Amino acid sequence: MHKLLHWVVAAAVIFQLYLGFELGDLPQESAERLGVLRWHATIGVTIFVLMLVRLAWRLTHAVPPAPTTLGPRLARVARAVHIAFYVVLLILPLSGLSLVAGASDRVPVLGIELPGFGPVSEALRGTLWLIHATVAIATSVMVVGHVCAAVRHAMLRDGTFSRMLPGG
Ligand code: HEM
Ligand code: HEM
Repeated sequence: MHKLLHWVVAAAVIFQLYLGFELGDLPQESAERLGVLRWHATIGVTIFVLMLVRLAWRLTHAVPPAPTTLGPRLARVARAVHIAFYVVLLILPLSGLSLVAGASDRVPVLGIELPGFGPVSEALRGTLWLIHATVAIATSVMVVGHVCAAVRHAMLRDGTFSRMLPGG
């Protein structure tokens, strides 16, 4: 269940980052932007719920110890990145939801029209956007580092990659 959720969330996050950067390129208030934003909001909230489920599972289940192939320092880096994934994937949907709730062009989330508190001031909107965009860029960097690390583990054949596969 934890492995299945890892791969579902991984695919969703990669697609979500693509949709997010796509949003930046589309003209404000355009129908196309609202269409992309609708999907971005719905997938983002789904990621939020799945991360809460993952967090609950992770905190109540033991996982295999980190491999010893990469040494204690890299093991600490890996652990920090894994914890940071939980943090950023909770901050992103919350800041995204605030952006939508405080906007004049609101979109439904999971088909539900959420109550808004906007339009908010340009300064607040700018701050929320900065948080969302900066954390999204940090997440992109983490994904690249994480995938490089996964490929390295696969090359070392230390069992770390295969333990994330079914039956591993
Ligand atoms: C793109 C979004 C991704 C996110 C947010 C993500 C997140 C995580 C997290 C948080 C863990 C730690 C286990 C846990 O506590 O749940 C983990 C483990 C792992 N991930 Fe990812 N991951 C992503 C994509 C990928 C991809 C594309 C690959 C493979 C190419 C991959 C391979 C692995 C492997 C091999 C582990 C096991 C590490 C271990 O057992 O210590 N991940 N991932
Ligand atoms: C894991 C979840 C999420 C990820 C990875 C993500 C990622 C991104 C990225 C990469 C951007 C582009 C930033 C830029 O232009 O530099 C973006 C923009 C945006 N996101 Fe998200 N997002 C997530 C969740 C959400 C949610 C749940 C919502 C709304 C309910 C949302 C609303 C927005 C809005 C409104 C923008 C456009 C800001 C603007 O250009 O005016 N995001 N997101």
